[in-house]
Amino acid sequence: MADKWSAGNSCTFATVSVDTTKAAIDPGKLPQHIAVIMDGNGRWAKQKGKPRVFGHKNGVESVRQITEAAAELGVPYLSLYAFSTENWSRPALEVNALMSLLVATIKKEIETLQKNNIRLQAIGDLSRLPSKTHQALLSAIEETKANTRMTLVLALNYSGKWDITQAVNKLRGASSEITQDDLAGALSTAGMPDPELMIRTSGEVRISNFFLWQLAYGEFYFTDVLWPDFRKQHFYQAILDFQTRQRRFGKTGEQLTS
Ligand code: IPE
Ligand code: IPE
Ligand code: MG
Repeated sequence: MADKWSAGNSCTFATVSVDTTKAAIDPGKLPQHIAVIMDGNGRWAKQKGKPRVFGHKNGVESVRQITEAAAELGVPYLSLYAFSTENWSRPALEVNALMSLLVATIKKEIETLQKNNIRLQAIGDLSRLPSKTHQALLSAIEETKANTRMTLVLALNYSGKWDITQAVNKLRGASSEITQDDLAGALSTAGMPDPELMIRTSGEVRISNFFLWQLAYGEFYFTDVLWPDFRKQHFYQAILDFQTRQRRFGKTGEQLTS
């Protein structure tokens, strides 16, 4: 692990503990797609007597850590909910700071994405983003498009209702009856496996208009940890928890074990 992301992992006790948790994960039962609602930045900052934007800035390190953890494990798809369609209702100062932070982060991290062979994708109504943010995003997507180790999906100006609506609009006028496969293929996540695990930080127990269709059978994991405190250890815990679940898909438990 000689890459830039690993720097700063200097606490020996924590390292041993992280490694033990990681080693307990069954690599044969990894979720093929993990979706994360990164929540709690504002409260994290408030606890420290700082402005909300301080929390967003510190959340970037968690994004780095979790992206690296997912790639190292071999998770093929990681989706991060970074800005919802509802988040435009926040004070303009915060929205602008988030958009600028996005540009700065994308520009700063592109080299690391390349080095780690990670492809960047974005979903949501990107045309409504400020043009600097949109441009930075499009060029990072273009630059990383041939990378194969993992796909990192940023959900930006995204909402599940928006996604389903735009899919229906795409299919409007179809000459035959629309099937579930047609609809899935018109969503912004077309071609990706549905998220098998959805993690939400900060103690909120709701979906906040994220993947409404795609999470039909997703396993949910909620933690009180605030996003800027979320580290590899927490991510591994979520995966371990996922691996204890019996995914029945409507069947009985006996059908699965017999
Ligand atoms: C999540 O943290 C980040 C975004 C929604 C952009 P919040 O900013 O929602 O933090 P809290 O929920 O107010 O603590
Ligand atoms: C959900 O978090 C959106 C993102 C993490 C981008 P919010 O903090 O905006 O969610 P609500 O409004 O509290 O449900
Ligand atoms: Mg929040």
